[in-house]
Formats: sequence, structure tokens, C-alpha cells
Amino acid sequence: MKRICIIGISGKLGQYMAEHALARGYEVVGVCRPKSVAKLARIGERITIFPGRSDDRAVIDAALQGCDGVLTVLVPWGVTGYATGTAQAVLDLASPKARLVFSGGWHLSRDGRDRYSLKLRAFIAVFRRLARWLRVADLGDQEEAARRIFASDRAWTLVRGSDLEEGRGVGLPVWARHVGDPLLASNRTRRSDFALFMLHALSDPTLIREAPAIVGRDTASARAHAGASARIRERAQPQA
Ligand SMILES: NC(=O)c1ccc[n+]([C@@H]2O[C@H](COP(=O)([O-])OP(=O)(O)OC[C@H]3O[C@@H](n4cnc5c(N)ncnc54)[C@H](OP(=O)(O)O)[C@@H]3O)[C@@H](O)[C@H]2O)c1
Repeated sequence: MKRICIIGISGKLGQYMAEHALARGYEVVGVCRPKSVAKLARIGERITIFPGRSDDRAVIDAALQGCDGVLTVLVPWGVTGYATGTAQAVLDLASPKARLVFSGGWHLSRDGRDRYSLKLRAFIAVFRRLARWLRVADLGDQEEAARRIFASDRAWTLVRGSDLEEGRGVGLPVWARHVGDPLLASNRTRRSDFALFMLHALSDPTLIREAPAIVGRDTASARAHAGASARIRERAQPQA
């Protein structure tokens, strides 16, 4: 894999992904809103930027030319179907062989088998109503985007982030198939490591059509349960 596109490259996660990708020798192109191009001044000369909304199919089509990997930051902002439009454009317009990796949060459930804490359910319920009422965000839009990704036969991965924090990366996060796995109990990942996992997913075939829920590898729950969770996943792996 040589050339990758980062959609939402000007955000915090996007910039971390760009740095990891450049460090690994990828050719990087990125899409961000025109007003955010200036945020990329530090790395601007090393990447190619396509300014535009990420649900603008003409912009996405141009940016994805020649890319064998696409990293998409899926955000619920606005109430005009931004996340759904972004995901659909990537699913429709990426090269047929491209690896497609999307970011999201634990709240995006693939099969309804995630078990959420009361605190997380309450937070999501309040955020969903308040954000929609203020017209700043629509969690239902991000959920619809996820449904379309899960239904796709493309080589996708949807990486589901825990609560995030800044700070120096500590290495590749560990993951479980479902929220509620004791491995994830610490609910904390460095944003830089989330970005590392997104990059890692591009070249890990075991993550194709998976929605890994991640947590920092140095957290208490990861240290206590990493081995057991990996064994459970291996046992549950569909046989070829
Ligand atoms: N924040 C968390 O605690 C958390 C937890 C779990 C998972 N996640 C997931 O992590 C990913 C990135 O989250 P993040 O918090 O690190 O954010 P981020 O990287 O800062 O990304 C925010 C993105 O949203 C864009 N954006 C901001 N306001 C917008 C608007 N009104 N309309 C359209 N686009 C807008 C930004 O573009 P500009 O640069 O143009 O503003 C940027 O690309 C998301 O997929 C999120 O679901 C986040």
C-alpha cells in the first residue's frame, strides 16, 4: 500500500493519522473543509490537500484517485446527514480493492450485543437529545452511516474508540468485539494511539469487516484481560 487518503485530516485524530502515515512512508492525500486548511500548515508541504466537505462526492472522487487505503473520520456534526453522505461517498467511490477504515465511538453497535454501562447509556441519551435540539449534531446520522458500512461488502473496518485523552502514545491499543468485555472496562485511549490503530487496520486482514472496540494497552483493564480476550476472539473466528 502506497497512497492513502485521510478524510477529515484537519481534526485532531486526522492530524495524528497523517503523522503516523508519513512516518511509515505513505503518500498522503487528505480532505478537509476549506476553512480548516490552515490547521495543516505544519505538514502541508508533505501532503496533498483536497479542500471541501467530506460528503461532496466530486471532492471525494478526486481525492480517492489512486488510493489503496482510505481512513475516514466519521463525525455526527450538523443535522444534514454529513456522516451518512461521507460514508456513502467513500463506499461508492473508492477503488474496488481499497481498504476502508472508519472511525467512530463505542455507541455504534454492529449486532446489538454490546453491553453499555448505565453512565454511558445516560450520557448518550442526553447528548442525543440535546445535540439534536441545538441542531449541532445528530447521533442518528452517525448510526445510519455505520449501518451502511456494516451492510457493505467492501473491505471495511469500523474502529470504535473509547473515551479519548491527549498525551504521548503508548502503542497499539487492544480490542474486543463487544463493549462490555472486561478488557475495555478502563474506557480510556490516547488519541495518538487511536490513530495508530486506524493505520494498523489498513494492513491487518483479520480486521476486515470487524468493528473493534479499542482501549489503551497500558490501562488496568487491558493489562488484566488482554490474553483472555484474544483467546476468546480466536475461538470465535469463523472457520474458512
Ligand atoms: N472525542 C471523543 O471523546 C471520542 C470518543 C470516541 C470516539 N471518537 C471518535 O473519534 C473520531 C474523531 O473524534 P475527535 O474528537 O478526535 O475529533 P477530531 O479529530 O477533532 O475531528 C473532528 C472532525 O470533525 C470535523 N468537524 C468539526 N466540526 C464540524 C462541523 N460542524 N461540520 C463538519 N465537520 C466538522 C473536523 O473538521 P475541521 O478540522 O474542518 O473542523 C474534524 O475533521 C470520531 O469518529 C469520533 O466518533 C471520539
